[in-house]
Amino acid sequence: MKLVSTLEDLRQHRQALANPLGFVPTMGFLHEGHLSLVRAAKAACPSVAVSIFVNPTQFGPTEDLAAYPRDLEHDLALLEAEGVDLVWAPTPEVMYPAGYQTWVEVTDVTQFLEGKMRPGHFKGVTTVVAKLFNAVQPQHAFFGQKDAQQAVVITRMVQDLNMPVELHICPIVREPDGLAMSSRNTYLSPAERQAALVLSRSLQTARAAFEQGQRNADALRQTVLSVLAAEPLARVQYVSCADPSTLAEQSGVISQTLISMAVYVGKTRLIDNIILQ
Ligand code: PAJ
Repeated sequence: MKLVSTLEDLRQHRQALANPLGFVPTMGFLHEGHLSLVRAAKAACPSVAVSIFVNPTQFGPTEDLAAYPRDLEHDLALLEAEGVDLVWAPTPEVMYPAGYQTWVEVTDVTQFLEGKMRPGHFKGVTTVVAKLFNAVQPQHAFFGQKDAQQAVVITRMVQDLNMPVELHICPIVREPDGLAMSSRNTYLSPAERQAALVLSRSLQTARAAFEQGQRNADALRQTVLSVLAAEPLARVQYVSCADPSTLAEQSGVISQTLISMAVYVGKTRLIDNIILQ
């Protein structure tokens, strides 16, 4: 496994890799969710590249950029064990040198959910993913359903900009007790870690209601909210039932829905989602 940080080294080592190349962009502090993407890439492609870059432009001024967990050495050991061919870990100066002024923005599907709560977040995400794609030139790229809106936004960008990349959206990987894996789970105290189970529990309650025939978006949203309200350590930022492709908020009778949420547990902001169809 080769580790590179400069663009020159990346280009040189990328050229030697067999095509099609599978690519997994990450911000590091890797867990089984990230590794599931690596395994999907390994299964589909003869060579695999992973990027590790905590992208400053997708963090708001009051968000956790400085505190975001990092452990490059451990990440590299995990990726080596998965048989990854190339790891690109650029510095902020490589990605955003002095004078940087070019941005990629997806306009409509970024107006809802995370985009609404985190102004500028997706502008940072689409810009960095476009730059990573340009530099790595993968034929396949792997993203997680954990970040449901990110998957929709990047799908839109790839389509709108005619990027020659096939996207693969992989299922959410959860801890045995249901908590969706996230690098940010490391912020949780033991009591908060326990309280955080309310997110997946609320989604399972909605799934059970849907399976028993509940097709009213407002009722499903209310079901989720009432489960969340019973957990004193949880503070809801939003709960949404949205159209899975446009992300427009739904009301009344629906046939399929993306239920998603952002919930603070203590100071940690957690997201989770499920698609019911
Ligand atoms: P990061 O949060 O490190 O996530 C990297 C990829 O792993 C994303 O596609 C994310 O959806 C996926 N992922 C995270 N947790 C997961 C889980 N529990 N199950 C399945 N997949 C999971 O998302 C980003 O980084 C950044 O925004 C990035 C795309 C790298 C751009 O900076």
